[in-house]
Formats: sequence, structure tokens, C-alpha cells
Amino acid sequence: MSSQRQETVRRLTAPDIAARKGGVPIVCLTAYTAPVAEILDDHCDLLLVGDSVGMVVHGLPNTVGVTLDMMILHGQAVMRGSRKAMVVVDLPFGSYEGSAEMAYANAARVMKETGCNAVKVEAGPAVAENIDYLVKRGIPVMGHVGLRPQAVMVDGGFRAKGKTDHERARILDEARAAAESGAFAVVVEGVAEGLAREITGAIDVPTIGIGASAGCDGQILVTDDMLGLFDWTPKFVRRYGDLRGEITKAVAGYADDVRQRRFPGPAEIYFAKAG
Ligand code: KIV
Repeated sequence: MSSQRQETVRRLTAPDIAARKGGVPIVCLTAYTAPVAEILDDHCDLLLVGDSVGMVVHGLPNTVGVTLDMMILHGQAVMRGSRKAMVVVDLPFGSYEGSAEMAYANAARVMKETGCNAVKVEAGPAVAENIDYLVKRGIPVMGHVGLRPQAVMVDGGFRAKGKTDHERARILDEARAAAESGAFAVVVEGVAEGLAREITGAIDVPTIGIGASAGCDGQILVTDDMLGLFDWTPKFVRRYGDLRGEITKAVAGYADDVRQRRFPGPAEIYFAKAG
């Protein structure tokens, strides 16, 4: 047996999160890198390696171009940085919708290569049976209903959902189907409070809201949005920091110091030994 100290902290698991239905709200944030995951880990129950990484980190216009390899690389980084939060990795567009077998092969690869605890899929029409297939074969799945960013091409943009009776009924059905197929939790994005509460009351696993009111069993935000990295954020984001302002100030100070030859100073250079 290795002489190294054994890991004593147990990560939260899908059953732990599922058991929080109706209890203390579940705290979730997105994470894409090891150092940020390390900071978030002390405060969050669940870290989502969201395919929003494509827009937030890689500058893509939407999440459609995100690949499985990108998700695996960021999933590995977040697993290395965290110890106790449950880590869920998004399956990207095109990796799980085509067939249950395809979903299984790609989800299994993500689980094996990252060591993450679960995957998330956008639970639109026809995906419920793939969730069932994954869960029955040992892969915990989180669903995602309402505003589904991977459907941006069909929808023509990112818009709040559930504005008509027909759409509300469809989203409720999709949430029910995801939960009945074995999802341990369902993200509900961009819907009015009434619908979020209706979904939360209708399914027996936790709802995780983003732009869906405090009526959900937990909340998630894109970390870079809530830290204030971007000039524009959706209406539902509350800014808890001004990272853009802080970075701008720091970089301007550095640039000024370099130009004025104030950096590096005596404390930041090496000296040759005498003799
Ligand atoms: O990709 C992502 O970051 C997400 C969250 C917004 C829920 O799916």
C-alpha cells in the first residue's frame, strides 16, 4: 500500500444530490479550470463543466462547436482542482442525441477519461430514452430543460422559454420524462417562476434553476458571469464581483510599470553571488 496520505474527503454523489430534493438549496457553479475549481470547491455542492466553456473560454458564438475532446480536457482539470464537490461534465452537441449506443459510448469515455461523477444532457424531445439507457448502464445523468443552448440553431437565438401554453406543457413533459428516465436532477433554464415551481412540484428529483426563480431546489450560474468578467450578462445573472474591472486595473498598472521601467524592481530580480 502506498505511504501517501489516503484521501479522506468523500465527493458528493448523484444519490447525495438527489436526496436534497426540497431541502437546503443545492449550490452549483460552472468550472472549467483547476485553479478556479479549487476555489469553488469549498463553497459548492456541484461543479458543472458546462459546454458554456466554448463561449466563456474559447470565444465561440454558441455551444454548437464544442467537442467531446474539449469537454474531457476541461473535465480533467476540474477533477484535479476539486476534492469534495460532485463534478458533472456536459455532453456536447452531437455526442448523445443520435442513438442510445452513441450516447453510451461518448458518456462512458467522458466518465473514464475525466473520473467525473455524472454527465449532463439537454433533455429535448427524443433524449429521454437515451437517459434511461445511460442510467441503466451505470452512468448518472443530469437533464437540462427550458432554454436549451444547444438548440440555438433551431430556436434562432437564446430566448426565455415557456411563453405559450403549448411550450409550457412541452417543457413540463420533458422535465417529467427526464426524471422518469432516471435523471438524478434537472437543470431548468430561462423559464418564468410559475413554470419553474410547477416543474419542481411535478418531479421527485431536484430542479437546479438558472434564470428560473428561487422556486427551484438549487441554483447554478456561469461563474465568469457572476464574477463580472463580461460587459453583458443575461438579466438573471447577479454580479458578485467585478473581475473585468479588477483585471483591467491590474493589467493597466503592469503596462504602466513596464513602460516607466518600474517593473521589475530590486525585489523581483536575481543577483549574482559575489566572487
Ligand atoms: O453549459 C453550461 O454552463 C450550462 C449551465 C448554464 C447550466 O449548461
